[in-house]
Amino acid sequence: MDAVPIPDAYPPDRKRKKKAVTTSFLKTQPAPRFSFHDLGPDSGSFLEDVIRGLARGRKELPPKYFYDERGCALFDAICELPEYYPTRTEIGMMQARAAEMARHLGPGCVLIEYGSGSGRKTRLLLEKLRPIAYVPVDIACTQLRDSAGRVAREFPDLAVIAVCADYSRPLALPGLEGIAARRRVVYFPGSTIGNFTPGEAVRFLGNARALTGEGGGLLIGVDLKKDPSRLHAAYNDAQGVTAEFNLNLLTRINRELGANFDLSAFRHQAFYNAELGRIEMHLSCVRGQRVDIAGNRFDFRAGDTVHTENSYKYTVAEFQEVGRSAGFVPLECWTDPDLLFSVHYMTVSN
Ligand SMILES: C[S@@+](CC[C@H](N)C(=O)[O-])C[C@H]1O[C@@H](n2cnc3c(N)ncnc32)[C@H](O)[C@@H]1O
Repeated sequence: MDAVPIPDAYPPDRKRKKKAVTTSFLKTQPAPRFSFHDLGPDSGSFLEDVIRGLARGRKELPPKYFYDERGCALFDAICELPEYYPTRTEIGMMQARAAEMARHLGPGCVLIEYGSGSGRKTRLLLEKLRPIAYVPVDIACTQLRDSAGRVAREFPDLAVIAVCADYSRPLALPGLEGIAARRRVVYFPGSTIGNFTPGEAVRFLGNARALTGEGGGLLIGVDLKKDPSRLHAAYNDAQGVTAEFNLNLLTRINRELGANFDLSAFRHQAFYNAELGRIEMHLSCVRGQRVDIAGNRFDFRAGDTVHTENSYKYTVAEFQEVGRSAGFVPLECWTDPDLLFSVHYMTVSN
């Protein structure tokens, strides 16, 4: 166990450790106030996932690989865009309703956040909730260490157990043994649940249910179905930040896997698929090219696309059904006045 201070900000050029590493920071008894556990979420699997996805008849890449350091910064920039209503709307809802949400979750809970990102919404919740421990889980280690460190400094009495991991795989969260919580609650804001198909969402939430156990809860932000033109604008911003975020995935593959994608041959494409109720993001190839990735060759023809992300939209009733199928009981749902976004609170059914 290393005894070092909570980081002010994480050095941007630090090399990621490939092996699972646990580092506990600071403090005395009974538990360290800030600990960081690197479960090595993408060690070894990035190349495998890219090769498998590009070998498919319909080429695809998993969205979890968007979030290298540049990808995290670009996502934060997307959140500030005038067209991108979800973040602004959900933050407004947290400002107005966090106290009410906190009353539902109750005192003495452990708050486990999936995909914690910059943690802006979380801090609004933590101010009202004051849980006994906060467990942010994110695949982006550098940003996680930075934002979890910030939370630990802002909430000095709170135990912060940061876990760098891939939440789409079964998770055994370290550091929770010995914490006597009244309940475990999974917090999953940002409508990141929309990246899963409804069937995947049920399986994912079923795992979350198992993690929270009896008496557990789920507080989750879900983007609502709405006028497709509003959705189209949100994912095709005028400044081209979403396009850069999408294309950055190829830059990452070039840099980390030694590939030779010519980025000028790809265009960002995002549209609403009304039949499936989802925004689809693709990288569309405008001229043929041959790409080598670690000894694997892929031919792209003009018109081919690589499907990089889905963002499913739900009505309140549709998402409550997803929750029920995963073993939760919907208790409360908040929406904004314009019916753009929803936040659901559900508990584990007995
Ligand atoms: C759309 S952002 C949302 C960030 C933040 N929760 C918010 O509401 O603004 C998705 C976050 O989930 C993380 N993420 C995506 N896929 C993940 C995975 N499979 N495992 C763990 N974290 C993941 C990303 O690194 C990113 O921080």
